[in-house]
Amino acid sequence: MNEQRTVSPAETDEERAADVALRPQRLDEFVGQRGVEEQVRILVEAARQRQEPVDHILLYGPPGLGKTTLAQIIANEMGVSARLTSGPALEHQGMLASILTSLQDRDVFFIDEVHRLNHAVEEALYPAMEDLAFDFVTGKGAGAQTLRLTLQRFTVIGATTRAGALGGPLRDRFGVTFRLDFYEVDDLVQIAARSARLLGVELDASGAELLASRSRGTPRIVNRLLRRARDYAQVRADGRIDAGVAAAALEVLGVDGLGLDELDRRVLGVLTGTLRGHPVGVQTIAVSVQEDPETIEDVVEPFLIRAGLLARTPRGRVATAAAFRHLGLEPPAGTLGATAASAQAELFQG
Ligand SMILES: Nc1ncnc2c1ncn2[C@@H]1O[C@H](COP(=O)(O)OP(=O)(O)OP(=O)(O)O)[C@@H](O)[C@H]1O
Ligand SMILES: [Mg+2]
Repeated sequence: MNEQRTVSPAETDEERAADVALRPQRLDEFVGQRGVEEQVRILVEAARQRQEPVDHILLYGPPGLGKTTLAQIIANEMGVSARLTSGPALEHQGMLASILTSLQDRDVFFIDEVHRLNHAVEEALYPAMEDLAFDFVTGKGAGAQTLRLTLQRFTVIGATTRAGALGGPLRDRFGVTFRLDFYEVDDLVQIAARSARLLGVELDASGAELLASRSRGTPRIVNRLLRRARDYAQVRADGRIDAGVAAAALEVLGVDGLGLDELDRRVLGVLTGTLRGHPVGVQTIAVSVQEDPETIEDVVEPFLIRAGLLARTPRGRVATAAAFRHLGLEPPAGTLGATAASAQAELFQG
């Protein structure tokens, strides 16, 4: 992943540190995603009343929309601890065993990138999730013995950017699945205002609106643009962020009026250039812009689709009329309109 992209939803090192202060800790501070929020509230309250752990939860959606945040919030609301790890970090069953046996009653075990668990670890996780059992195999061949450990009750919260990449057996073991969607501009305005307060920077309504509308629907990005606008305001203005200062700051960063950056525009460039009008496979796009296909599919495309600029069709990706116009080009005859494109995207995804 190219960490230089200002509007890349991926987390940077700066953010790992800075976001500790900005990350909401309670459900009341979690902005937007109303449907999910209400369901989480009910789940947590019901589990608390019964003094049970929350059911296993799978969170999916594009990067930076709040999966890790929500997992942490659920643990906080339950009044339990959260253990955070990721699929690739759980290299073998022993590592899984050491975490599982260290959990206290009702703790949250958060597994980021849960679609990247290796096979052996995933297999060992099944009985743990279902029967609170962990089977240790000692010895080899005829002398091998299985030792069954009984675990404390716990909740697995798995997060993934691609629900489709999760095997059926694993997916089935999650009692609840929440899909996080891109945020509305109003929600992002609220997030920007809250973050500005926490950072002690003056941000007026026009500035918040501008940052929010160029954040690709993503809280992580609105926080990032806010930090960059704060730098700009401090060095080039009087420290306050209004629409003018925010726009000037984003201009320097190459973020355009829709919040698209270089890579987004390059992807649209492929679809509106020599291949215009032809459906293009994701591999071809990836090669043309020199990125890996997973980044194109999980990071770049979801927002372009949401913005009505790109459509996934069974034969490949196409740019919509709106994409041509955004790039200052005349759409060729027969180009998919934005409405038709989003209808098609829904059909295709559903
Ligand atoms: N609903 C929200 N309200 C306020 N701030 C939010 C919300 N969701 C996310 N954020 C902010 O955005 C940042 C990124 O969120 P988070 O790390 O939870 O995303 P993620 O979905 O786990 O991303 P990734 O897929 O990269 O792991 C958080 O540190 C937090 O500051
Ligand atoms: Mg995360």
